[in-house]
Amino acid sequence: MERWTSTLTLLCVVWSGVAALTVTIPKTEYEFARGDNITLPCSFKTIKTDPKVVVISWTVQAAVVNAKETLILTHYYPSKTTDIKSQYEGRVSLDQDIKTGKANLKLSSITLADNKIFECRIQIPGDDEGIPVDTARLVVLVAPSPPICKIQGTAEYGQNINLTCYSEEGSPPPTYKWDSQDVQRNPRIPDPRTTDKGGILSLYNITKDTSGYYVCTSRNKIRSSTCNITVTVMPPSMNIGSTAGIIAAVVIFLIILIIVIYCCCCRKKKEKEEEYAMGKREEEYHDKEPDRNGEGRQGDGGESTRDYDDSSVRSPIDRRDQYEERSERDYDRRSDYNDRRSDYDDRRSDYDDRRSDYDNRREKYGDRHERYDDDHRYDDDERRYNDRRDQRYEDDDRYDDRDRAPSNKSPRRDDDY
Ligand SMILES: *[C@@H]1O[C@H](CO)[C@@H](O)[C@H](O)[C@H]1NC(C)=O
Ligand SMILES: *[C@@H]1O[C@H](CO)[C@@H](O)[C@H](O)[C@H]1NC(C)=O
Ligand SMILES: *[C@@H]1O[C@H](CO)[C@@H](O)[C@H](O)[C@H]1NC(C)=O
Ligand SMILES: *[C@@H]1O[C@H](CO)[C@@H](O)[C@H](O)[C@H]1NC(C)=O
Repeated sequence: MERWTSTLTLLCVVWSGVAALTVTIPKTEYEFARGDNITLPCSFKTIKTDPKVVVISWTVQAAVVNAKETLILTHYYPSKTTDIKSQYEGRVSLDQDIKTGKANLKLSSITLADNKIFECRIQIPGDDEGIPVDTARLVVLVAPSPPICKIQGTAEYGQNINLTCYSEEGSPPPTYKWDSQDVQRNPRIPDPRTTDKGGILSLYNITKDTSGYYVCTSRNKIRSSTCNITVTVMPPSMNIGSTAGIIAAVVIFLIILIIVIYCCCCRKKKEKEEEYAMGKREEEYHDKEPDRNGEGRQGDGGESTRDYDDSSVRSPIDRRDQYEERSERDYDRRSDYNDRRSDYDDRRSDYDDRRSDYDNRREKYGDRHERYDDDHRYDDDERRYNDRRDQRYEDDDRYDDRDRAPSNKSPRRDDDY
């Protein structure tokens, strides 16, 4: 296009048949990064060989309609003086060579304020036809600032996370691209659902394999910059909060367990104490018999006689006096104990011991019942039993004296209960 235009210009010149000056800036637009030292090229051609006077000037104007033109510098040949406007002093210089037609503008440390249209003008006396001016647009770019890589969400199995990448500066605005490597630093093909839009890499339903090394490149047309982030996907249980929760739950459970055990122990102890007390009562009941027998020996026979009358009614208390029946009652009681008590077995041996005591006593009472039989106070069953017993123990004279004692004692017991 440019070439075509130039050709057209040349044709015009040829057609006009007049000597013409041609000024050219090769490109219409130049892109440089902010802070760069740049050169805007400008060349000219004249039909005059070895011109006596040449004036080179560079002006600038903002890239808006009707913007005011500002002079940067003016160079005069052959005096070789260059006038630089104060606002560009120290920043600009002219790289010129009249013989080769070079009039380049050098600009150092360009800023966004240099984002303007620059114009190169050549004036040669005696060659005022043609195109003495050309312009070019300077686009000052800003390299992307080093991006910041961040992770959004929780890097736990099954979660969705975003990796974000953003550069504070960049002109034109940078684009972002994520690359990832696995833990062994091998490049990998991302999960098909993974998206990389506007610097946000979205990872869905992440697993252990998602862990690795992620690099974001922030790039615009002049430069690029990177940041990186290491992602370590953890199982949810590794979460500090849930770990604390589990520990708390375990502690509470242990406390409850201790309380329960303590209560059980207490209750057992209490039960034991109760059993002990009851056992003691039983023991009292039996152990005291001999003593009471002793008392009963001197006791009044009349009372006992009355009781034996009552015993025909078989009141529980009276039965206690009849030791044959009493052993049966002990059996019944034992069945009660079975229901109520766990340490029945231990006690059973006690009962067995006592039973042997009773047996002995029964020997004694056998004789006594003989006497009762004589008195005809017992029913036929008892008499029969006693008869049996009499046969068994009739020779046992040793207990004669003591025989009466329990029977005498029993009325007292009745009073007690
Ligand atoms: C630009 O030139 C200045 C001197 O004018 C120099 O200090 C600076 O380092 C140069 N910058 C670059 C990017 O070359
Ligand atoms: C990830 O980014 C997407 C799109 O910007 C958003 O909808 C989603 O909520 C983000 N997820 C997280 C975990 O931040
Ligand atoms: C996540 O991945 C696991 C296996 O890796 C799969 O079982 C589960 O269904 C996935 N969940 C979703 C919501 O895709
Ligand atoms: C990762 O980023 C750090 C700065 O955040 C940088 O020092 C390091 O060189 C980077 N590593 C790679 C391999 O780019």
